[in-house]
Amino acid sequence: MSVTPVLDLRGIDKSFGPVKVLHDVDFSARPGEVTALVGDNGAGKTTLVKCIGGVHPFDSGRFLWDGRPVRVDSPRDAASLGIEVVHQDLALCENLDIVQNMFLGRERRCGPVLDEAAMEELAIRTLSSLSVRSLRSVRQRVSALSGGQRQTVAIARAVLWDSRLVVLDEPAAALGVAQTQQVLELVRRLADQGLAVVLISHNMNDVFAVSDRIAALYLGRMAAQVRTADVTHAQVVELITSGRSGDLGLPREAGVPAAGPSAS
Ligand SMILES: Nc1ncnc2c1ncn2[C@@H]1O[C@H](COP(=O)(O)OP(=O)(O)O)[C@@H](O)[C@H]1O
Ligand SMILES: [Mg+2]
Repeated sequence: MSVTPVLDLRGIDKSFGPVKVLHDVDFSARPGEVTALVGDNGAGKTTLVKCIGGVHPFDSGRFLWDGRPVRVDSPRDAASLGIEVVHQDLALCENLDIVQNMFLGRERRCGPVLDEAAMEELAIRTLSSLSVRSLRSVRQRVSALSGGQRQTVAIARAVLWDSRLVVLDEPAAALGVAQTQQVLELVRRLADQGLAVVLISHNMNDVFAVSDRIAALYLGRMAAQVRTADVTHAQVVELITSGRSGDLGLPREAGVPAAGPSAS
């Protein structure tokens, strides 16, 4: 029943200078599933995602891809494996249109000139495959789009390539209720198309609405990675705020993760 993870991190450590941010973190993501990555502010979620995306190479630990150890030292390495990260700040260019943003840095060419028609067609095809209907034209500038539409463009850009893992860092943080709903539906569709999706979110309702598994970071340690169906909101909140909940989570001796994080 359980699918083999496409991404499997083992024992990841990461420091910034003297500050150790990630301690012996295990984390996995499976195709066809949404894995929610939760944790309080400063728990290390963004840092972990940046390690996955090759932005911050980690100090020690193993990065397994399809079960095989790989090196991911740059965003280019990550992209060549099929890893796309939609960062918290989205990094879209306001003055460019949707097509230009989706192909930024990876433009299609026909000889020396940009193949605008091919890029436009592929952009439209990708958006419609994701059932995105809220955009009037793919030639609109990003500056004219709402927060939810921008998020949609950033997600569509991530799946344009032969992506196998898409990581979304707080995609709904700045969105209203209706737009959040649309983004969550999009997140679910990505997984239903067979992608592994990692969703960082603060919102327990969003997490329970859309995820198959939940990984809870506490002070840079993986408190637990569990099936969403096996836990309650209250347990996840406890994992986030104290690193443990009943039998789940880190050992009681604070700061001594002797047994390591529990697996699901
Ligand atoms: N580039 C950096 N240099 C130094 N410290 C950092 C850097 N990035 C993050 N940190 C620290 O790492 C910890 C985890 O941050 P972060 O991964 O952003 O947490 P989260 O996304 O869970 O809120 C924080 O204490 C933060 O200050
Ligand atoms: Mg963050």
